[in-house]
Amino acid sequence: MKDIVAIYPGSFDPVTNGHLDLIHRGSKLFDRLIVAIARNMDKAEPLFEMDERKEMLEAMTSELDNVTVDIFGGLLVTYCIQKNANAVLRGIRAVSDYEFELQMALMNRKMEPRVETVFMMPAEKYSYLSSRIVREIAKLGGPLGGLVPEMVEERVRRKIEQSQSYPTGAHRKGRTNP
Ligand code: PNS
Repeated sequence: MKDIVAIYPGSFDPVTNGHLDLIHRGSKLFDRLIVAIARNMDKAEPLFEMDERKEMLEAMTSELDNVTVDIFGGLLVTYCIQKNANAVLRGIRAVSDYEFELQMALMNRKMEPRVETVFMMPAEKYSYLSSRIVREIAKLGGPLGGLVPEMVEERVRRKIEQSQSYPTGAHRKGRTNP
């Protein structure tokens, strides 16, 4: 039997119940699943540092024996080869996700034909959920119940409070300016 190692890549800023739903599904399908947080994304200012995202993901997946969490930089396909992974797992929530996911999957396959992309659907109740929408609701003081685990909700709230007390972003780790 083949040992199937899959990488579930993403920004996870922060991890949502939709991500966790997919991780549980993936852990049943693959022999090993590596949840890989992508470094250096050219996205707007992130809410959480990489190690904070890793910590939350680790806490939320600790009961899954075949799941590990890692941080990667550079091309996803290069990371897959380094990890001897044969598959990339991505979630598709709605038709609107499909175009971007198709482009990414086909480009990854062109660069590295040994790695297959596998799409899975999260539970319907998470089909409207994204980290971006969680960040936006939290910033505007809306409810996060059912969207993220309680521990993540607390950390999001604390982070937003900090950023509102230091609106310049000076609270962020690694910043030396006041
Ligand atoms: O959670 P996201 O933001 O949808 O995840 C996107 C991610 C991290 C999977 C994608 O941007 C990625 O694979 N980045 C790594 C760099 C890379 O390989 N880029 C080429 C993709 S074709």
